[in-house]
Amino acid sequence: MKIVIDGIETAASPGEMLLEVARRLGVRIPTLCYHEAFGGQGVCRLCLVEVTAGEVSRLVASCTYPVTGEIEVRTTTPEIERIRRHIIMLLHRRAPGSEFIQELYREYGCQENVPAPDPDERCIMCRLCVNACEAVGACAITAVDRGTDKRIDTPYGEASPDCIGCCACAEVCPTKAIGVSRAAGHYTIWNREFELERCAGCGRPFTSRPCQERIARLSGQELSGAQLCPECRKKQAGSRVALSMIP
Ligand code: FES
Repeated sequence: MKIVIDGIETAASPGEMLLEVARRLGVRIPTLCYHEAFGGQGVCRLCLVEVTAGEVSRLVASCTYPVTGEIEVRTTTPEIERIRRHIIMLLHRRAPGSEFIQELYREYGCQENVPAPDPDERCIMCRLCVNACEAVGACAITAVDRGTDKRIDTPYGEASPDCIGCCACAEVCPTKAIGVSRAAGHYTIWNREFELERCAGCGRPFTSRPCQERIARLSGQELSGAQLCPECRKKQAGSRVALSMIP
């Protein structure tokens, strides 16, 4: 179906999320809680756009808005900019320690005189880390406590036996709120220390043993296949493809 985004006509499949159509077209819409691996969540509201269908216009979160008919979309209007600025100020108040939010704060010319409760806080509670942890089957972290004390943590804030040290949570975090401290031969995440296993191909230390075991189980490989770092796995797959092409 045909839709128009910022004056440019484009095609969208029924049910396709508006944000994804806009990205395909090269239109920049700021996002925080969206990740291509997990889709939209509609939590941060930063991806707000104006959608007009017939005579009716309304503001929607583009990451959770499925295209179901012909619409016209505007991604920036004075009202959108004003609301987005307020959202960024609220996010900045919650997570002033995040460099990404600081950049947005400057880009949108925000100004605020009220000091933030915790100047080092970086988490905006978007739950992308929880989604990533569930996706790898670890389920080691979740939202704990209530109200202003609500945060993402392991049960009782203790080193969780369910954590496999894959660091997918830290990887997807849009505000870099999840700390991974590294030292020679090991690293610590969520209060649990993991020894770094070396890649069976290049010898580079790259991940933990529990993570290798999980990769092997999820991919149905032998553990030896999961003992290769991503680069060596890619090379191995490439050489298999090349061999299969030899007549
Ligand atoms: S990116 Fe759409 S609501 Fe957060």
